Amino acid sequence: MVNISKRITNLPPYPFAEIERISRELKASGVDVIDFGVGDPIDPTPEFIRESVKVSVDAQAASGYPSYIGSKKFREAIGDWFEKRFGVKLDAETEITSSIGSKEAIFNFPLAYIDAGDVVLIPTPGYPPYARGCQFAGGEAYFLPLLAENNFLIDFKKITADIAQKAKILWLNYPNSPTGVNAADDFYLEAINWCEANNVILASDLAYSEIYFGEKPKSILEFARKGVVEFHSLSKRSRMTGYRVGFVAGDAEIIAAFRKVKTNIDSGTPAFLQDAAIAALTDESHVEEARKEYGEKRDILLAAFASLGLEVKQPESTFYIWQKIPAGMRSEEFAKKLLAPEIGVVATPGSLISDTTHDGINPGEGYVRFALVPTVAKVKEAAERIKKHLKI
Ligand SMILES: Cc1ncc(COP(=O)(O)O)c(C=O)c1O
Repeated sequence: MVNISKRITNLPPYPFAEIERISRELKASGVDVIDFGVGDPIDPTPEFIRESVKVSVDAQAASGYPSYIGSKKFREAIGDWFEKRFGVKLDAETEITSSIGSKEAIFNFPLAYIDAGDVVLIPTPGYPPYARGCQFAGGEAYFLPLLAENNFLIDFKKITADIAQKAKILWLNYPNSPTGVNAADDFYLEAINWCEANNVILASDLAYSEIYFGEKPKSILEFARKGVVEFHSLSKRSRMTGYRVGFVAGDAEIIAAFRKVKTNIDSGTPAFLQDAAIAALTDESHVEEARKEYGEKRDILLAAFASLGLEVKQPESTFYIWQKIPAGMRSEEFAKKLLAPEIGVVATPGSLISDTTHDGINPGEGYVRFALVPTVAKVKEAAERIKKHLKI
């Protein structure tokens, strides 16, 4: 019997197992479970995007390997969209490269810069591939807590000189999943200055940049390009999670290093998916509709929580609600209450999507995350059940 690698053996267990088990049992016993667990929109991908794939598949009947870095047409479409959206002109030759969804790029990016013992600074709660990609590359993840008292922004003053010296990458994710906050200009300027002073790459995940309710979230590339790299996705913007297409943009030197990694790992984003992404980027009306719907769902659920006396905070962006639970209650306990058969609501305990920091705190404890992905009718139903049956 060949031993599984230490890398895989040492991975912590899948955190949602217990919640999933209860949810499966409820479904089996006939409960109409309403699932706010995973952030995967269930509504169809807009028809014009689906049609564009069909056309593209036939137009390229002899499939052939796609371009490693994305077709010129795709990179130029990204460049046009970026300029319209953020007012930033990018060089499609050197400052943009395609990805197979942003998860792939986020996970693989550390391979370009991380050697054994190098540190990657990672906000927590946060998207797991920031840490996993670092660990698979042999680096050390150093978690920075996102706390309500700092409006869920990183506190740079808390990073010691010793850690800063070992750090090579800092991940940011605003609009932030799961807390729903945006970053203001002064925070971005502080992050840029801190990274510059400490010779750290500023890697920013903008997966939710288009799911906003008020002010449009900014790109860090509006402020600086040197040392900055951004990870963008079509998944949430255009309900294309299954398509696996995104892009990376920023400092040409960093893009060149990342391209070198990727040409050794994969053979590019399938051409028909690049074409689907081009179609998606040329239309904003479907995104506007999605934003309106997420806003509606957010208001329904927050009203239910407020009516129970819970402290509510409107997310500025993303389709998550990071709900504070009553003091003294644990996240898992609250999530289990929601799984009572008369409620049947699945949500993710904050503690399970948050890592314990070096000073022993788990910033997700005390919160439960709701992904606003069920239909409006189902969200209304969930809100009614919560108002009627949740005892806190
Ligand atoms: C914060 C964040 N970043 C990135 C992603 C990756 O999205 P994709 O790989 O579909 O582009 C997700 C997906 O849930 C996410 O929540």
